[in-house]
Amino acid sequence: MTAQLIDGNALAQQVRGEVAHRVQALKARGVEPHLVVILVGEDPASQVYVKHKVNDSSQTGLKATLERYPADMAEADLLARIRALNADAGVHGILVQLPLPKHMDADKVIETIAPAKDVDGFHVQSAGALMTGLPGFWPCTPHGCMKMLESIGYPLRGKHAVVIGRSNIVGKPMALMLLAQDATVTICHSRTADLKAQTLQADVVVAAVGKRNVVTADMVKPGAVVIDVGMNRDDAGKLCGDVDFAGVKEVAGWITPVPGGVGPMTRAMLLVNTIEAAERAAG
Ligand code: GUN
Repeated sequence: MTAQLIDGNALAQQVRGEVAHRVQALKARGVEPHLVVILVGEDPASQVYVKHKVNDSSQTGLKATLERYPADMAEADLLARIRALNADAGVHGILVQLPLPKHMDADKVIETIAPAKDVDGFHVQSAGALMTGLPGFWPCTPHGCMKMLESIGYPLRGKHAVVIGRSNIVGKPMALMLLAQDATVTICHSRTADLKAQTLQADVVVAAVGKRNVVTADMVKPGAVVIDVGMNRDDAGKLCGDVDFAGVKEVAGWITPVPGGVGPMTRAMLLVNTIEAAERAAG
């Protein structure tokens, strides 16, 4: 193995420690930072995710409230609830777990969240803030990836980063964050012709496709940083990423594992956004 591991669990623990300090500082000023997580319906994966989010928050001293609603909740009622939370000065962050039931328009729901409380960073105003460099909330997954690059002291200026995946919550924001650090960025996707020709030029590869073995050892420049955002299952049902870890770790300079890489960092960055929202509200 040539690659050094970027340990998402260890880094997330450090980030949570920093959040816990900020929470205490805010509480000393009489403000209790508060995240509200909304879950509509019974999606099994979503139930696990929201439990993690609430537990992570409690661990750092952040107040987190889970609001659960039935799958047949009317969209108008959800929008009304979000508007009430927007107006509640005691609530600093609002997260609506996705996916929502099919009868709801997820875009409309997300756009109803006040941008100042959009700790997921999914609102168009959050996306616009990232695009223009104005203060806002960055989506947690790419933000966590940037923290991982920062943790190894990797100088991005002038480097070539290839991002594979063009989702609004990972690929596109990731590309903007890298660009803001003066990297040269190529955004690819699963249908990019000769993806290997692109990745072989990359100093940093970020894989966010949601498919196994998108990145194999022959596609990686020796010494490159490989960040694996994927969350898939292998034939044995074991959690794996988009990167062929066993092969790529023999070529890369740094690599993130799955599990224990980007996942814990995504969760940690939600806490960062929430304490940030509360600090901004407190002035
Ligand atoms: N569903 C899966 N991941 C996420 C996430 O990061 N935020 C929300 N709101 N829903 C999700």
